Amino acid sequence: MTVTIKTVDEQDKMRIAGRLAADVLDMIGDYVKPGVSTGELDRICHRHITEVQQAVPAPLNYRGFPKSICTSVNHVVCHGIPGERTLKAGDAVNIDVTVIKDGFHGDTSRMFFAGKSGIQAQRLSDVAFDGMWLGIKELAAGKFLGDVGAVIQQHVEKHRFSVVREYCGHGIGRVFHEDPQVLHYGDAGTGLKLKAGMTLTVEPMVNAGKAAVRLLPDGWTVVTKDHSLSAQWEHTVLITETGYEVLTLGVDHR
Ligand code: MF3
Ligand code: CO
Ligand code: CO
Repeated sequence: MTVTIKTVDEQDKMRIAGRLAADVLDMIGDYVKPGVSTGELDRICHRHITEVQQAVPAPLNYRGFPKSICTSVNHVVCHGIPGERTLKAGDAVNIDVTVIKDGFHGDTSRMFFAGKSGIQAQRLSDVAFDGMWLGIKELAAGKFLGDVGAVIQQHVEKHRFSVVREYCGHGIGRVFHEDPQVLHYGDAGTGLKLKAGMTLTVEPMVNAGKAAVRLLPDGWTVVTKDHSLSAQWEHTVLITETGYEVLTLGVDHR
């Protein structure tokens, strides 16, 4: 396992990439309304990233992924492919944006609702959000990756939801998905010891029902096996001596 430590100069580039990824999510929120198609959201993000930001949408052609963002609606856990599906009132959608700027990646996702959110979907989104932040707050040089997974798992299961096991957070830098794997479950005090200069994502996927997932025949779309709702939030974070710096904060600091 090779975990890269970013130099001060590389950290600056990660800050820029992270800011751009967050800016895309800040920009797209107003377009998430009943009647919009996920393909339209993809086209708007693609245009913003390539024309306004002069950056590269990392998912496009990544291992054959056909679009520039991931849009995961309702029981879709992650890696939903934007297309002709239109959102209806109450639909929950995770929009996951990764941009490459000056050779470095910024990766972040948030939940959005078309119209008013349902109570259950809102609770699920809130638990995923709070789980992500509890995990992030564990991060500091000298702490362990297991500390992150443990607090997320405890929080999610306390609310009687479940943590997806098959997909995890990751190191990130010049490479989209690099070591280490950041599990969203586990035991405190176990796993990799963190060092200042590491950059990684925390991105728990939380299911309202059981944890099991299924991959659709398109080879990308991951859904809950029991068709329960799923929610996810993601930030890219820099480990510092005293704690962490979130590189993908939005204007409202979510
Ligand atoms: N952005 C996702 C992540 O958080 C990865 C998407 S890979 C893609 O790691 F190919 F589906 F875009
Ligand atoms: Co990620
Ligand atoms: Co992502």
